[in-house]
Amino acid sequence: MAAKTSAPVRSRMYVRFSFADRVQHLLLLLSFTTLAVTGLVQEFAENPVSLFIIRLWGNVDNIRLTHHAAATVLMLIAIYHILGFGYKVFVLRQRMTMLPGFQDVKDALRAFAYNIGLSKTRPQMGRYTFEEKAEYWALVWGIIIMGLTGFMMWNPVETVKFLPGEFIPAAKAAHGAEAVLAVLAIIVWHMYGVHLKRFNKAMWTGRLTEEEMLHEHPLELADIKAGMDKPALEANALRRRQRIYYPVAAVVGAAMLFAVYGFVNGEQTAITTIPPQAATVEVFVPETPTPLPPTPTPLPSPTAAPTSEASNGTPSSPTWDSTIGPLFAAKCNACHIATISGGLNLSTYADVMKGATDGPVIIPGDSAHSKLVIVQSAGNHPGQLSADELALVKQWIDAGAPEK
Ligand code: HEC
Repeated sequence: MAAKTSAPVRSRMYVRFSFADRVQHLLLLLSFTTLAVTGLVQEFAENPVSLFIIRLWGNVDNIRLTHHAAATVLMLIAIYHILGFGYKVFVLRQRMTMLPGFQDVKDALRAFAYNIGLSKTRPQMGRYTFEEKAEYWALVWGIIIMGLTGFMMWNPVETVKFLPGEFIPAAKAAHGAEAVLAVLAIIVWHMYGVHLKRFNKAMWTGRLTEEEMLHEHPLELADIKAGMDKPALEANALRRRQRIYYPVAAVVGAAMLFAVYGFVNGEQTAITTIPPQAATVEVFVPETPTPLPPTPTPLPSPTAAPTSEASNGTPSSPTWDSTIGPLFAAKCNACHIATISGGLNLSTYADVMKGATDGPVIIPGDSAHSKLVIVQSAGNHPGQLSADELALVKQWIDAGAPEK
């Protein structure tokens, strides 16, 4: 650039970013990069590059741990940033130069016109250009989205107390998509804006030369020269405002730190958070009629059973409803439901009598030739009846396999 070689002799430097700002940026850079790497390898876990990185980290649990640690750092940076913003605005009464306004829309249109040759001059911009504002607010927006969806995935049990369960997979989808967007924004937009267009080192050195100020932030330079960039601070008023701000910031900061603590420590994973069930529960419990005491007439009264047995003189024989149905439900239906195992469904009376695709398994009155008995008599079925149970089934078949 010709302007650069004929630079003015005056080489006054202007402070653009304070030391604290630069440390913030560095921490943001580190946490963002860590989050991006450890997040993307989870989002695209089957990709060979991801597998390589996961192996480098040891295992996916280490990746998750690192991701969570970086997320915590990012939350702390955000808190520091919010409190710092409050100090600048409420105590130092600085202007909110990052706020977008209509002027930014005009600047953007002007820059576009200049780039395609429709305008001879570039827009004159202040402390933050419209590009810088757009990038800053995209970052703020991104952190809010990632924080909310990250919370839902990190604390799913807590989340579903307030929201339907579908929000968890939805949060996962949004988190992954926003991550890709953020990484692309950094690679394309930020790379170009601060590294390619002109290698801008202000975020590291903290300074810009007068020439750079004139080129990129002419309105701010004019304000600085006119002494209008920062409001004049009256020492007493400043101290008074500090006395109000410090306790407020302490309370707000403590509340935010407490929120982060809850975020991070609320739940580990659903597996460790939900208390384990003491008793073993049946995973598959088919709908079966409630077993009734063996009575010839299906009376729900428990006193009916002894009476009928007494009148018969012998124990009543098993029926599907009373004995066999519940027995099969407990011992066979883990496998023999509608769709598998040779089409044999043992969950209802009608299905049992229908048999398998290759024929009936029960011949009423003839247990010896019933396939079910033959299969079970072999003694090595994946779901095996005990000898007593098998005897009961035989007794039932020989009695004509009654349903009731
Ligand atoms: C762990 C799974 C499992 C359990 C539990 C199980 N079965 Fe089976 N059963 C199978 C499979 C698999 C087949 C198909 C085997 C084959 O075709 O060789 C089968 C086949 C059968 C058949 C032959 C069906 C045909 O195609 O003709 C009968 C009869 C049968 N089972 C009865 C029972 C009974 C009665 C019980 C309960 C006491 C039971 N099974 C429990 C897995 C199971």
